[in-house]
Amino acid sequence: MKHLAIIPGDGIGKEVIDAGMEVLDAVAEISTFDYDGELFDIGADRYLSTGELLTDEDIDGLRKKDAIYFGAIGDPKVRPGILEQGVLLKMRAVFDQYINMRPVTSWFPFVPLRREVPFNMIFLRENTEDFYMGAGGKFGPSFNGNKVSLKVKRELYELEVEMEADPSNDDDFAFEIGFLSRKGITRFADYACRFAMARGDDKITLVDKANVITDMYGMQRDIFREKTDQYGLELEFMFVDAMAMAMVARPETFGTVAVPNLFGDILTDLGAQLQGGLGMGCSGNINPEGLSMFEPIHGSAPDIAGRGIANPMAAILAAQMLLEDQGYPGEGKLIHKAVSDCLKDNLTTPDLGGKMSTGQVGKAVAEKIRNGNSK
Ligand code: NAD
Ligand code: IPM
Ligand code: MN
Repeated sequence: MKHLAIIPGDGIGKEVIDAGMEVLDAVAEISTFDYDGELFDIGADRYLSTGELLTDEDIDGLRKKDAIYFGAIGDPKVRPGILEQGVLLKMRAVFDQYINMRPVTSWFPFVPLRREVPFNMIFLRENTEDFYMGAGGKFGPSFNGNKVSLKVKRELYELEVEMEADPSNDDDFAFEIGFLSRKGITRFADYACRFAMARGDDKITLVDKANVITDMYGMQRDIFREKTDQYGLELEFMFVDAMAMAMVARPETFGTVAVPNLFGDILTDLGAQLQGGLGMGCSGNINPEGLSMFEPIHGSAPDIAGRGIANPMAAILAAQMLLEDQGYPGEGKLIHKAVSDCLKDNLTTPDLGGKMSTGQVGKAVAEKIRNGNSK
């Protein structure tokens, strides 16, 4: 029996997680996988009524679980960054989910963006460092002087940085610092190498912007070079701008792709679109030794929330990743096959050209699973 934390969150998060649960229930009916799900009320509604983001009590409750199934966070009534940093990024950091795995697979020929070539990239996005440290500040006359104290806490380290700026004019400034640590990159590179070997890839593509952001990404290159040499893997460097183009032009030439946090965020929305849209992109926030969290890569989509038209496939495929992570690869495959069959039969939401609602697609995938198999 697996104990899952269910966090639907905001907007379409609630709708797609409902559909995903329907699918998990179907899998539980016809296989040896069994679970109980505890609902955690974390998100904009609670924040607006109580002021709470991710509380210590939430963290204690989540820690007891085998995995987290997460929808999306973000609400137009709340200033951007508050929920995102206070809930989602905090969970990733607190549970040290240092890998964000985002598969980008062709669903050819069933999705609107038909590129008649199969591709199968796996983006491994470093998930705790880079420009996601929350290490920013402002100084200047509007901000009480030129001193800034920064504190960041990660599982691997705590950092305190004192800054004193001496600007030549009396302007206001704002900044955001990116950090990479040797230990952080090393475990990331190590994971990427083990992952590529297990997947049968002989090459890792490392994406960066080492031609401009030379210190951070220069150190990252050195560490990846050492690691890939150790594992006998080929290492290919791609600058992020060229990578954006190459993902569209020749996605079939990439397999395991390692990418720092911020660029990984951006490129995987592009990756989602290569698979048919944001409604197809799933992800796992992975702590290989701890608590992992599975979620669609899209957000709360306020523009379509409440209308029942959100594509739940991304959330459903995140459930597949959750099952695989929890030791149920066969059950994961059932989901994959059922999604594929629904795409083939055009049992989809409008973004993929179908006529079904979010709930109907969830039911259709669940139905395929129930009909196709028995315990
Ligand atoms: P978004 O991913 O919510 O939506 C971008 C566009 O894609 C919208 O037009 C939306 O309608 C569409 N879309 C997204 N998911 C879809 C689905 N399943 N089916 C059909 N269409 C879908 O990004 P945004 O609009 O930039 O952000 C909205 C809010 O979500 C913000 O508060 C943002 O911070 C937050 N956000 C949260 C997460 C997360 O929780 N992991 C991820 C991204 C954005
Ligand atoms: C994602 C999201 C988050 C990120 C935001 C909401 C903090 O865009 O999961 O891709 O940038 O990682
Ligand atoms: Mn994103």
